[in-house]
Amino acid sequence: MPTSRRGSGTTTLPSGQTLAFHTRTQDEEDLPHATKKTMADHLRKYESLFTLTPQRMRMIVEAFKDTLELGLEKNGQIVPMIPTYVFGWPSGDERGEFLAVDLGGTNLRVCLVTLQGEGKFEITQSKYRLSEEQKQEEGQKLFDFCAECLKTFIDQHIGEEPGMINLKEGETLPLGFTFSYPCSQQRIDHGELIRWTKGFGNPNTEGHDVAAMFRQSLAKHDVPANLISLICDTTGTLIASHYVNPKTKIGCIFGTGCNAAYMEKVSNITKIKELQIDENAEIAINCEYGAFDSFHHEHLPRTKFDTIVDETSNKPGEQSFEKLVSGRYLGEIMRLVILELIDDGVLFLGQNTYKLEVPYAFDTAFLSLMESDPTDELLMIIGIFTHFFAVETTLAERQFFRALAKLIGRRAARLSACGIAAIVSKMGYLEEGCAVGADGSLYNKYPGFADRIHEGLVDVFGDKGRSIVTYHAEDGSGVGSAIIAAMTKARKDAGLYVQV
Ligand code: GLC
Repeated sequence: MPTSRRGSGTTTLPSGQTLAFHTRTQDEEDLPHATKKTMADHLRKYESLFTLTPQRMRMIVEAFKDTLELGLEKNGQIVPMIPTYVFGWPSGDERGEFLAVDLGGTNLRVCLVTLQGEGKFEITQSKYRLSEEQKQEEGQKLFDFCAECLKTFIDQHIGEEPGMINLKEGETLPLGFTFSYPCSQQRIDHGELIRWTKGFGNPNTEGHDVAAMFRQSLAKHDVPANLISLICDTTGTLIASHYVNPKTKIGCIFGTGCNAAYMEKVSNITKIKELQIDENAEIAINCEYGAFDSFHHEHLPRTKFDTIVDETSNKPGEQSFEKLVSGRYLGEIMRLVILELIDDGVLFLGQNTYKLEVPYAFDTAFLSLMESDPTDELLMIIGIFTHFFAVETTLAERQFFRALAKLIGRRAARLSACGIAAIVSKMGYLEEGCAVGADGSLYNKYPGFADRIHEGLVDVFGDKGRSIVTYHAEDGSGVGSAIIAAMTKARKDAGLYVQV
């Protein structure tokens, strides 16, 4: 075959095999590149590292389930199974105007939600991107920023017209605060931060009541808002999804972090027995299962790349499940594999790879883009490597990168399925089936993520797994937070469990 040609096509070898060929560039000829065979050999090695068999998945689900049960029994467990004091499902008839502040991971969002009853609502919102510096500054400063943004939002939206905030002098609006980090709660308007996750590290916040810190900032900036409830995005997702689809039993986030919430019978939450809540009542549990397998690393198939991600993170040992599954880390895992191949002299010989050597330079969005590249030449992948990293790639390399992205993305989705399966199996939802409201950048934007979760559920449960269906959830952190604020207000007005 000629070594260089323009265009794409196929050719038949003397052996009878058909080979596809594609345009090659001049650059490719000048640089030493790995052959197609070398790349295929490497791919096989990574395939065995990143592939999860159904049997392994079932073992993970069993261990996961035990961990969930332990968290309900005793305080201070690795997976904390936090009682949220959200009592039961919304009626769908919650009404009124509520503010919601959503501090999630990547953005800060402030919203005005008008609940109109019958599962209907309207929302007006503003979004602010959080800088990396803001994730590390003094905790109180971060809450000051949230309060300032809320104040600006309220000032901009005061008015008489529909969709505007109709606020009289001296009045305050009820506020739901979505703070998506593990907090142990003594009551719904309190939350002691157990640990920062998702790369946050603001000093003087862990071990403190973040609701009180936020209230302090609201008072300092004269914000006319009354914090009613503190929730996590998964709890909001669970409630908001149930508000519009009452078949929903689990709410999940697959985004910068990963976690789930579900509704539990009080009689099963042994660790809150002394609160003397009616045994038949139900309370939403924020599992915080991103922490599964933390510190001991007994159950998850961690590769050496996962170990590096963990050890170089600001929280070594913690959030072990999340570090294999969530959007914050998948790009970094891929970058570390590429670096290994650079160090071994397989990739990019003779090219300057300093841009690839920067931690977290490889965005998880690149994996999505690579997997969805529709061109034979894999032009999107050429673009990513030339534009962001200033390196040239051959088609064989690009095919390898795409296959590698698929391995990492698929493992994340199959592990995500294990988390859902653990709750399903613990709660016995398999027979009747259930809907799972899911949200987050991976779930919404990564091609095939939901299909791979569904495949994973069938691998764990067999054909019955088809009765567990995930769907794109309602906005839990905004609308869900407002619904929970409304439920809480109604509960307290009715004098029910006012102490929590
Ligand atoms: C992290 C947080 C958790 C949140 C999840 C998804 O795991 O600890 O509270 O629900 O990310 O945002």
